[in-house]
Amino acid sequence: MDWFSGILIFFVTCLVVQFVRLFLSDSDLQLQWAEIFGNSTGTLKGKVVWITGASSGIGESLAYRLAADGCRLVLSARREGRLQQIKQTIIDGGYSTQEDILIVPIDLLQFSSHPSTVQRVLQHFEKIDILVNNAGRSQRSLIEKCPMEVDREVLEINTLSPLSLTKAVLPHFIERKAGHVVYTSSVAGKIGSPGLGSYACSKHAMQGWLDSLRIEMYTHNIHVTSVCPGPVFSEALVHAFTDSADQSLGVIMDPSERRMTSERCASLIAVAIANRLDEVWVSPHPELLYLYLFQYFPSIAKRIANIFGQDRVSKVRRGIKSLHKTS
Ligand SMILES: NC(=O)c1ccc[n+]([C@@H]2O[C@H](COP(=O)([O-])OP(=O)(O)OC[C@H]3O[C@@H](n4cnc5c(N)ncnc54)[C@H](OP(=O)(O)O)[C@@H]3O)[C@@H](O)[C@H]2O)c1
Repeated sequence: MDWFSGILIFFVTCLVVQFVRLFLSDSDLQLQWAEIFGNSTGTLKGKVVWITGASSGIGESLAYRLAADGCRLVLSARREGRLQQIKQTIIDGGYSTQEDILIVPIDLLQFSSHPSTVQRVLQHFEKIDILVNNAGRSQRSLIEKCPMEVDREVLEINTLSPLSLTKAVLPHFIERKAGHVVYTSSVAGKIGSPGLGSYACSKHAMQGWLDSLRIEMYTHNIHVTSVCPGPVFSEALVHAFTDSADQSLGVIMDPSERRMTSERCASLIAVAIANRLDEVWVSPHPELLYLYLFQYFPSIAKRIANIFGQDRVSKVRRGIKSLHKTS
């Protein structure tokens, strides 16, 4: 075999391995390689990590995961009782002490409280290393049916509140010349989806903002990570917005649904943080494959979406709950 054939076989083998990995995996290739060869999450030991939306779902699992990695935690959400239970579980598991977990109940829609809340955290820990903007609410309603009131509320919690909290923390990061902003975006932050119009709008907006922030903060040694999960088990459909401002969806996810566990999602987020990755995709198939198709062949992906999306549109028209099994 001559040297040219050798190199060719090597490259073809690498390509085949990448394809196989892609099909078997639940995250993008960069995150997969970081999980195997990158910094271990143990490198986060001692970091002060502020997680919003820590009272359930992905945020709760991330709290357990980062506590196991030796992080000191600030846990925020509105349900203080749930946060206290999570803190106790972590302490009972021997992962942390009373002083290393600070509970900070907050309604993130009260934007004016953000600067004083940051000061409260700094008084306790004297620093913040990583801010994980995870709190958010999903949505299920057709654009034609969704009142402006709901559109506004979706954007306030998913876009304006993380934007405001990040801006309140930035002066501290800039002064220290160190910091890391993480945001739980969504596959819907990359691709539009029927029945999720305002939600997709809120997550797409943050993607643009985070990309701008990353460039502006580059010389300040401040990192920005956007996490795009696909379907994950959580309380998201219980609290999701509908086409009525005073009604949440109230659907409990069926364990037989094709979704990633919040524990696996949190584990991959921890890897993304430890390796300071810019943007990561964390999802089962077919959403993960569709993200690749959308990224590299957007025209084809949009045509496919128009055809296959119609079934979902009619399900949403028939009543949003027909999309989901109720328990
Ligand atoms: N589950 C999925 O399939 C999926 C997929 C992609 C992206 N995501 C994103 O992942 C993030 C976490 O969602 P999840 O799936 O884990 O849902 P979840 O279990 O419903 O968690 C949402 C969290 O946000 C908090 N929150 C909501 N409104 C708040 C407010 N006004 N002030 C303070 N905290 C508030 C909730 O706490 P309180 O109610 O106690 O305030 C809760 O801790 C969200 O940003 C969501 O968009 C989820």
